[in-house]
Amino acid sequence: KRLILIGPPGSGKGTQSPIIKDEYCLCHLATGDMLRAAVAAKTHLGVKAKEAMEKGELVSDDLVVGIIDEAIKKPSCQKGFILDGFPRTVVQAQKLDEMLQKQGVKIDKVLNFAIDDAILEERITGRWIHPSSGRTYHTKFAPPKISGADDVTGEPLIQRKDDTAAVLKSRLEAFHKQTEPVIDYYAKKSIVANLHAEKPPKEVTVEVEKVLSS
Ligand code: AP5
Ligand code: ZN
Repeated sequence: KRLILIGPPGSGKGTQSPIIKDEYCLCHLATGDMLRAAVAAKTHLGVKAKEAMEKGELVSDDLVVGIIDEAIKKPSCQKGFILDGFPRTVVQAQKLDEMLQKQGVKIDKVLNFAIDDAILEERITGRWIHPSSGRTYHTKFAPPKISGADDVTGEPLIQRKDDTAAVLKSRLEAFHKQTEPVIDYYAKKSIVANLHAEKPPKEVTVEVEKVLSS
């Protein structure tokens, strides 16, 4: 399957992705994760992306389209993929269509993580990440087994630099202005499935599974 996950910051895309990935053996392409890795490694790409990310604005279409164009051609992504956080603008969606056309394939489903903005601040400010594995926790909704440390490795958890209430405001603004039109773009193709992303993680997983098995 070829899937797109769309939703505002904190809507649960990164939480559901590994579950879908394991179940369907798909490759998981998260532009946010790829960009954060580039920033940490101080690559050319990372240097260009850093400022926009810290402000909660979108990185330029050219940069992210380049990353996805390269990743999507890899042999490991030929059976299917999950795009998490891409496309985020209509231009990105059009470029993606061009890439897929060349491969003679198309998107099967767009999972829309629909949720009210008001819930997101608590989710974002309580998120903690295990940097080497990408495992995500939440102080209240998904607490680590050992407090202050990762449950499996015992290594410390970190918070994302953009996970503050102030930066969240810009990220939400970018979502409503630039990314919501992408949902309409795919709605016209009748491939959007709306999820109740405000429900607890396990209930969201059940909804995802229903959509993917239909
Ligand atoms: P990105 O990394 O994509 O961030 P985002 O879209 O803001 O999404 P998040 O990762 O914050 O949320 P999520 O939905 O994955 O939530 P999660 O599951 O972790 O992008 C970062 C930046 O990179 C952008 O601002 C931009 O600058 C740049 N960028 C990336 N892609 C780009 C693109 N295509 N174009 C241009 N720029 C781009 O959950 C959050 C928390 O809530 C966790 O603690 C989790 O445990 C908890 N939680 C999850 N689900 C539930 C639930 N159902 N109930 C209760 N708690 C839950
Ligand atoms: Zn994420």
